[in-house]
Amino acid sequence: MARFQPFVMERMMSKFEKAVEYNLSESGVHPVTFKELIQGVPGALDRLLATEMDYAHANGIPELRRNIAALYAGAGPENVLVTVGAIEANYDILAALVAPGDEIVVMLPNYMQIWGMAKNLRADLKTFPLAEKFGWKPDLDKLRKAVTKKTKLIAVCNPNNPSGYILTREEMEAVVETARKAKAWILADEVYAGAERVAEEETPSFYGMYEKVLAVGSLSKAYGLPGLRAGWVVGPAKIVDRIWARHEYITLSVSMLSNHLAAIALSPEVRPRLIRRARQYIRRGYPVLEEWMKGQGDIFSLTPPQAAAIAFVRYKLKVNSTKLAARLREEKSVLIVPGDHFGLDHHLRISFGLPHEILRPALGRIRDLFVELRK
Ligand SMILES: Cc1ncc(COP(=O)(O)O)c(C=O)c1O
Repeated sequence: MARFQPFVMERMMSKFEKAVEYNLSESGVHPVTFKELIQGVPGALDRLLATEMDYAHANGIPELRRNIAALYAGAGPENVLVTVGAIEANYDILAALVAPGDEIVVMLPNYMQIWGMAKNLRADLKTFPLAEKFGWKPDLDKLRKAVTKKTKLIAVCNPNNPSGYILTREEMEAVVETARKAKAWILADEVYAGAERVAEEETPSFYGMYEKVLAVGSLSKAYGLPGLRAGWVVGPAKIVDRIWARHEYITLSVSMLSNHLAAIALSPEVRPRLIRRARQYIRRGYPVLEEWMKGQGDIFSLTPPQAAAIAFVRYKLKVNSTKLAARLREEKSVLIVPGDHFGLDHHLRISFGLPHEILRPALGRIRDLFVELRK
């Protein structure tokens, strides 16, 4: 059997997120209820009750594709493929574009799906870093060095998981310029766009900056709807059709109910309410995390995340992050993601986009473990 690179973080979360008392491993905000989603939307319940449990359009119902396309300047429904979460969008894109031996360049740290898939596809994997010592700014020289004429695809995550860094316009242009020179595709995973902590402006998409961009989005993070399992890719119609051909092999379509609920979520009437809600969780949760960090002396340091509901905190103890996370889980029933999962030990990824009554006691338990470790 071929060597297989497991998705280490998702394996850990799949196994333990429902088993612990406090789950601080999620990167999105506290989830929306069905009631909250459809409340105040005229006719929504009747519409759902009347929906036939048929196969949906394999590429997404037209209303949903129209609502998604409206988020990207210059895009139409023919540019959109609806997938089972952003995770399927990323998967299908790689399946369509990357063959064994193809060179791909991935931003690190990152949600490690594309990194792991590149290994499983036997691609020639190169990376470029976001530099923590420069507030997680991308090292563009390293990007330029990594990209060659053979580079097929450059994968970025903006806003970034786990650092919450948002690329500046100049940095985005530099990525585009580098890709253009190599005629490489840009896979822009933009699932945290809309979940900005400080800025009011939504993070702009790479879509429209260059003709070879595939922009990936999802309802899981900025909309608080991970359980709908609805994501998408937006790109040139011809290549979206090729990606769709992979989608047919693996999921065929997103469920009919999810298609309708996603269309409601992304309607101009509901979308602003969901974005406001996510930002509220992020903006109210962050000061609690910050205050908690200050209460631990100088053990923690953090570049404040500009977006997403996660903080990638560095700690000063000589304890490995995987071991620390395991103790936290076993002894305190709290799940967080160890820095090891991003190739950066001595960090912890901690969610904070949660109600205070969950966040405060969970952080209290992490503090208790750190008190014990320091003794
Ligand atoms: C950067 C990034 N991309 C994709 C995903 C997968 O999201 P979805 O729930 O839409 O499949 C995640 C989930 O954490 C993520 O952080």
